Parts: sequence; structure tokens; C-alpha cells
Amino acid sequence: MLKAVILIGGPQKGTRFRPLSLDIPKPLFPIAGLPLIQHHIAACTKLGECKEILIIGSYTTTQMTQFVNDMQKLYRVIIRYLQEFTPLGTGGGLYHFRDQIRAGNPSAFFLLNGDVCADFPLREMYEFHEEKPNAIVTIMGTEATRQQSVHYGCMVRNGSNAVTHYVEKPNSYVSTLINCGVYVCSLNVFQVMAEAFQKKQDGFYSGNGQGTPHPGYMSWEQDVLAPLAGTNKLYSMQVSSWWSQVKTAGSAIYANRHCLTLHCTRDDVCQIIPDVYIHPSATVDSTAVIGPNVSIGTGVTIKAGVRIKESIILENATVNEHSLIMYSVVGREASVGEWSRVEGTPSDPDPNKPFAKMDNRPLFNTDGRLNPSITILGAGVVVPAETILLNSIVLPHKHLARSFKHEIIL
Ligand code: GDD
Ligand code: GTP
Repeated sequence: MLKAVILIGGPQKGTRFRPLSLDIPKPLFPIAGLPLIQHHIAACTKLGECKEILIIGSYTTTQMTQFVNDMQKLYRVIIRYLQEFTPLGTGGGLYHFRDQIRAGNPSAFFLLNGDVCADFPLREMYEFHEEKPNAIVTIMGTEATRQQSVHYGCMVRNGSNAVTHYVEKPNSYVSTLINCGVYVCSLNVFQVMAEAFQKKQDGFYSGNGQGTPHPGYMSWEQDVLAPLAGTNKLYSMQVSSWWSQVKTAGSAIYANRHCLTLHCTRDDVCQIIPDVYIHPSATVDSTAVIGPNVSIGTGVTIKAGVRIKESIILENATVNEHSLIMYSVVGREASVGEWSRVEGTPSDPDPNKPFAKMDNRPLFNTDGRLNPSITILGAGVVVPAETILLNSIVLPHKHLARSFKHEIIL
């Protein structure tokens, strides 16, 4: 029997995803029509042996209950949400809930960061892990550019794929093989974690906690993976399949494009340029032209002559006659007036650089100006007719009165 653990953080994380994460937890933001972590759940349940999925985070249970119930019904496996009383870091929550993970004595468990999107090769990873006699953790690794690698966990391997050196977000170049935030772990990882935990506790109470926010706080990467490197118990399986972090709203558009190729639906409602996802409850005028890379949520209304490409339209939004939307996210219940133009700038990986990943840039550059990015309309925003919005972010429930470019509208 196998289990899976998905780390989803809490409301104080996902700052680069605001304002989209203000009214929906980032792990539930729809990518190709499905909540982000439903893609993880779908991948885990494809392995018949995976009998239980534990989601660990510090969102309230109220925010997660409906989703967990829906997923249990849909996939018929046990899914539980375990709430951290305070953010305990990537390792602290895992260690805190170790008894729940060990219960039933699974032969191993998958550990997945909730903020990545990928073709999760879980079966291959499990087989790879099983072949290594002393493996405690196997990390899914992928190639990045030299320049971008330093924003990830970096690994050096020997000829038998054992990780000899691991540095989390190094200050200078270490390796182009990066950690994808997807792991297979054997249960004896908790013995390693117990030692790491003891060290953290000693440090915390002796005053050497160095800014550790809570005695139960532990970093999976720094306190567990880094010390395991060089012991022949940490391995990395390198993959070349598609993978991306989902940190910014721009990366949601990028992930959407990839996942849509897997879940395309309804190609008969209007002129569609694949790939497009349209929820069955959406109303789309037959003269609209939609795609590529568009997903349209529940209850959305798209009127005559509308053109939408490279965008996500969230539930119950209305897009009025002849408006154009590209490289944007339109929030829940937002409305775009007729003949308006809502446009952003894509932040896709550089196609001319092999292994390039998305640059998850902060909202502002060093001179305090907004970095060009996709346009985001928060929930309930009203864009009047004949308005142009370019590279802007509009916070929820704002009724705009004119056109804007390169601005955050508060
Ligand atoms: N439950 C819980 N509690 N989850 C957390 C916490 C916490 O206190 N802090 C972070 N997480 C979750 C996040 O929601 C995310 O899914 C995952 O843990 C990793 O989050 P970050 O701490 O933001 O790390 P990162 O994404 O910058 O880097 C990690 O992922 C990269 C791949 O995407 C590292 O593992 C890197 O080494 C790796 O390259
Ligand atoms: P993830 O996408 O989940 O990794 O979140 P993020 O990278 O957007 O947020 P991260 O926690 O890395 O924080 C980015 C910056 O925002 C850091 O300097 C944090 O200290 C700061 N920050 C995070 N949360 C808050 C918050 O709730 N309030 C304030 N004022 N700052 C925050």
C-alpha cells in the first residue's frame, strides 16, 4: 500500500499569486478547469496501490472541506486535510503528522509540493526508488538553465544517481539539476527527521534558533535533504517531461496551456482554436472566437463577437459583446464591458533557451515599477464598455471608470 502527502502552505504564502489568492486558496485555483491540486490527486489515484492522500497546510478546514469531500467522492480514496496550527515549514508539518502518515504501514509515500504542475511520473519514481537498496528519499529532478537553477534546490549526483551534494537555492551556481518538489519517501525518513527535529529544538531553546519562528518549524530541504546528501540514501531520478512551478498568475496561464492538452472539452459551441476548456454550465455565443489556451469556468457568459486567447475566465464572469481578452485572468463574477480590451504580457519560459523555466518575477522591478505581466481582474471587478486595460492588476470589487496601463488599481 502507498500513500501520498501534498504540502499546500497557507494563506500567508502565495503572495505573488495575489489578488487571485485573496478569495480562493491558491491550491484550489483552477488550471485547465480543475483545482491545481486535483491534478496531483488524479496522478496519485492512477496508482491503484495509493490508498490515502493527506493534504497538509495551514488554511482553515472550512476552506478545504468541500474540496476534500468532492475529491473523495470522485476518486473513491481516503483524502484528509490536516491543518497545521501555525505554518511549520515544509518539514515541520510532515513530521508533526508522522503518525497519520505511518498508520497502516505503507511501503512508501509520495510527497508533492502543491504549487507545481507536471506530468507526475509517480509509477516510474516508485520503481526507481525500490531498486535502490538503501534509498530513503528519491527526488524528481529536471534540468534548468545555469542562471535560473539558483532559484531552486540544486543537486549533484554520482554515476548511480545518488545525490552527493544538495543546496537549497544556492547563492552561486551549483548544478543545473534541480529539485521538482516531487519525492518518494520510505518510512524510515522519520528517523532521519527525528534527529533533525531534535537539533532544531536544541537550537531553538538554546537561543540559536536564528529566526526560526516556532520550535516545531523545520525545512524539509535544508534540515532533511541537505544532510542526507552524500550518505547513499538520497537519490534523484531525472525526467525530461513537462514540469513548472505555479507561483505567479503568469505561471497559471503557462500551466493552463500545458494541462489543457490533456483535458480538452466542448469544441462545438463557437469557433475554437485548441486547446480550450469550457465548463458545461457556461453560455458561449456562437460568434465568439476562443483559444488557444483558454479555460472558461462554471456559469460564465461569453457574448457575441468576443475574442479570448491565452486566458482564464473564472466562475460566473461575464464578457460582453465584441470585447477582447488576452494573457489575462478574469476573476469570479467580474464583468468586461462591450468593445473593451483587456490585455497582458505573457511570461513564458524563453523558447530559445533549452531547459528554460518560467521566471517567477516579483510584481515590482528594482525601480519600483510594475513588471509587465498578465492582466488580472479580481473578483467582482467591473470594466466599463470601450475601455483598455494593459498589464494591470485590479483588486477585487473595483468598478473602473477609465482605461489603465501598467498600474495596480486598488
Ligand atoms: N503545510 C505546509 N506548511 N506547507 C508549506 C509550508 C508550511 O509551512 N511552507 C511551504 N509549504 C508548501 C508550499 O505550499 C509549496 O507547495 C511547498 O511547500 C514548497 O514551498 P516553498 O517553501 O515556497 O518552496 P519553493 O517552492 O520556493 O521551493 C521548493 O520547491 C521547488 C520546486 O518547485 C523547494 O523544494 C525547491 O528545492 C524546489 O526546487
Ligand atoms: P509561495 O508562492 O507560496 O512561495 O509564496 P511567495 O513566494 O509569494 O511568498 P513568500 O512566502 O516567498 O514571500 C514573499 C515575500 O513576501 C517575502 O519577503 C515574505 O516575507 C513576504 N510575505 C509573505 N507573506 C506575507 C504577508 O502575509 N504579509 C506581508 N507583509 N509580507 C508577506
